[in-house]
Amino acid sequence: MTRLPVADRPAVREAARRLVADERRSVAFVAVLHIAAAVAGLAAPWLLGSIVDSVTAGGGADTVDRLALGIVVAVIAQGLLNRFANYAGHRLGERAIARLREEFVWRTLGLPVAVVERAGIGDLATRSSVDVTAVGTAVRDVLPIVVVSVTHLTLLFGAVFLMAPVLGLVCLVGLPSILVAARWYLRRAGPAYLAEAAATAELTDTVTATAEGARTVEALRLTEARIGHGTERIATVWAARRRTLALRSVIFPIAESSYALPVGVVLLVGGPLIAHGVVSIGDVAAAALYLQQAIDPMDRLLQFMELAQRGLASYARVLGVSQVPTEESGGSEVPEGTRIEVRGATFSYGGGRDVLHGIDLDVEPGERLAIVGPSGAGKSTLARLLAGIEQPRDGHVRVGGVAVTDIDPAERRRGIALITQEHHVFLGTLRDNLAFAAPDATDPQMVSALAAVGADWYDDLPDGLDTQLGGTARELTAADAQQLALARLILADPHTLILDEATAALDPTTARRTERALAAVLSGRTVIAVAHRLNTAHDADRVAVLEDGRIVEFGPHDALVAAGGPYAALWHSWHA
Ligand SMILES: Nc1ncnc2c1ncn2[C@@H]1O[C@H](COP(=O)(O)OP(=O)(O)OP(=O)(O)O)[C@@H](O)[C@H]1O
Ligand SMILES: [Mg+2]
Repeated sequence: MTRLPVADRPAVREAARRLVADERRSVAFVAVLHIAAAVAGLAAPWLLGSIVDSVTAGGGADTVDRLALGIVVAVIAQGLLNRFANYAGHRLGERAIARLREEFVWRTLGLPVAVVERAGIGDLATRSSVDVTAVGTAVRDVLPIVVVSVTHLTLLFGAVFLMAPVLGLVCLVGLPSILVAARWYLRRAGPAYLAEAAATAELTDTVTATAEGARTVEALRLTEARIGHGTERIATVWAARRRTLALRSVIFPIAESSYALPVGVVLLVGGPLIAHGVVSIGDVAAAALYLQQAIDPMDRLLQFMELAQRGLASYARVLGVSQVPTEESGGSEVPEGTRIEVRGATFSYGGGRDVLHGIDLDVEPGERLAIVGPSGAGKSTLARLLAGIEQPRDGHVRVGGVAVTDIDPAERRRGIALITQEHHVFLGTLRDNLAFAAPDATDPQMVSALAAVGADWYDDLPDGLDTQLGGTARELTAADAQQLALARLILADPHTLILDEATAALDPTTARRTERALAAVLSGRTVIAVAHRLNTAHDADRVAVLEDGRIVEFGPHDALVAAGGPYAALWHSWHA
């Protein structure tokens, strides 16, 4: 399995910068609101300090009342400003997340099929759920917290410095230990969180594979093995999480003890300073209150570091998907005609041993070619090459004189359809399920496509084309679903059809009926059918026999039977 790429630090930084830059005005607006709220928050301690000083100086109740009223006004203003700032911040965050999700969906849909198959569903599923959500949380919650906390801290420390510079210096006592701890943490947290995310993806993969293959697991008594496999993955996740937990268990205690330090030191040093007349009691009281207020933003900054690390690791994985070249960036050539020409095509999966060796093959427009051969001969692989899903390592596959992988992807998908036993019924109406093959198809066209493939179950549907399919709604049998897939094909109207055991999942009678129904529809198109039911080969114009990645026999059915070679042997044993 080849994992999807993960973006590196500079790429993540650049993308994050762009994300913020695109919302420059909103970010500035949110920041201004938060600064205003923080300034309003500064008034209360300062006013309280003034009350202390005025009482010490023997001031009257009048002054105290006026100052107290000021505190009330400041607190209300701070509350209101905070509310609007948070509201604007969340709107900004949600907008950014929505864009992120949309981009991710588009990139994912543009991924070449072969890349998705190699990466495994778990990796992509984890990225699109866990990782996108983690980035979303980071953008929506972390960004405002940073803005708020940094401005808040700057203002608080600035206020202490303005009031009494000596006390300001004393405040800085707690900072060095936090900075050292933060540096230590940040160095290690990135890789640790990436490892955690990768381990989670592996676990998802394993669990999904076991659930999907539940029958195979039972039939082959693989339960113990699969449990063992899952347990290993859980152990890996557990170890990865312990690692990040260990990092947190170092940073948090250090940071938290650092917060309390300045308050203690200010009070401790404040006494002698007051005695020597350097500062007033009010100054020390206000400074202590400011420092007390600073604990909250400092703590939130720390939490943010934690969330930001998670978010950055996830963002690297989300961005990694867009580093895969999409199909759309593949080619833009327009083929002339539909003649298929394969020359010396050699192919191996992921650099392994060759499974196709120098295949030569010509298919004329409108011709029917059957490909037969033993299991593992490379029939499906050849079908994937012809459809442009895989590219030959050596040699070429051309359609209309153009390498099939260089054809504009939209054009290719319109012209060449590969249909296998794997098909999917999407949640939605029958009409939705047919329409994405041909968005402009009319209802009568859809109904006649269903009739053409012998889907007589259509007549029993309560709401016709509006019947809900998939999930807890009406479930189609494998045979029905296969017919639906074939009907889609008819609507898509491609010039070349590649059928890879397309009717193999149907019971023999249904298969025969569907094939006969299809035959009428297939006329005029090039059809390449991989088949193990040799009546398909019998009806084809020519037959290619594939063995061990090589075409060992090629010609019309009758000629091959007369030749008495491998095909004749297959035919006789199948016929008996
Ligand atoms: N995704 C893959 N990764 C690695 N090897 C693969 C992959 N798919 C197929 N192979 C190998 O390539 C060879 C040809 O497989 P292919 O599926 O093309 O055979 P086939 O003729 O279609 O067989 P069957 O009749 O069982 O469908 C086999 O040895 C198979 O193990
Ligand atoms: Mg196959």
